Amino acid sequence: MARVTTTSLRRMKEEGRKISVLTAYDYSTAKILDAAGVDVLLVGDSLGMVMLGYDSTLPVTMADMLHHTKAVARGTRNAMVITDMPFMSYHISVEESVRNAGRCLQEAGAQAVKLEGGREMADTIKAIIRTGIPVMGHLGLTPQQVHQLGGFSVQGRDEAQARKILEDAQLLEEVGVFSLVLECVPAPLAKLVSETVKIPTIGIGAGAGCDGQVLVIQDLLGLYSDLTPKFVKQFAKLNEPMTAAVKQYIKEVQEGVFPGPEHTFGMEESLLKKLY
Ligand code: KIV
Repeated sequence: MARVTTTSLRRMKEEGRKISVLTAYDYSTAKILDAAGVDVLLVGDSLGMVMLGYDSTLPVTMADMLHHTKAVARGTRNAMVITDMPFMSYHISVEESVRNAGRCLQEAGAQAVKLEGGREMADTIKAIIRTGIPVMGHLGLTPQQVHQLGGFSVQGRDEAQARKILEDAQLLEEVGVFSLVLECVPAPLAKLVSETVKIPTIGIGAGAGCDGQVLVIQDLLGLYSDLTPKFVKQFAKLNEPMTAAVKQYIKEVQEGVFPGPEHTFGMEESLLKKLY
């Protein structure tokens, strides 16, 4: 199977085939998700919250993103790997933004980058695309603006906000983004945006009218409980078997049952005698 590309994602939209996207942050998980057939692995800056324990994505650095993208890229053969550009890595100057986007591909092995924001990001996005780096946009709830937005809340509920999201989506398409994340927007608005633009929209908390869906892998597996937004569906509750397995391990260590003979390396009796 060939690797998923910007072209194949566009074709999926044209053919009405839904796109599956998941976040991944490490080699072993990426390998499982890739083998399961997910179309895109996003190394999201959500790793700041679900992997590193921060209460927002703001402290995440370029070094964090490169480190985790390298691991995901090593575990992935077919899925497209996209790196989220972290807060302040594309806000200082266009030149620095292009350099940072380039590092995600050149040093870490991603095939594209994602960045948050609408019309205010147009020049930066154009410059990154001009170097040949595919860019995914991100509108609606943009977690890097959490303090400006006043919390992690649904966006596009009044006419002005909804119109801005629709117009920003059209502008980002004109500028050349290959796909667009729509986070926490009312489902009818996300459907309208998806019908208006030709690029695939990927929804999270944006309803079934998007061309694809993305979830944070820890949310899907039931491994993160600090925040449980309405849009999260836990497809498994892995915290339960994980806790049970760890409790069993502790018990077997305490009782001297683990390690058993099958986990143990022996030694010639005669050799051992010489050591006594
Ligand atoms: O950081 C992230 O994981 C994201 C997705 C939730 C879209 O931006």
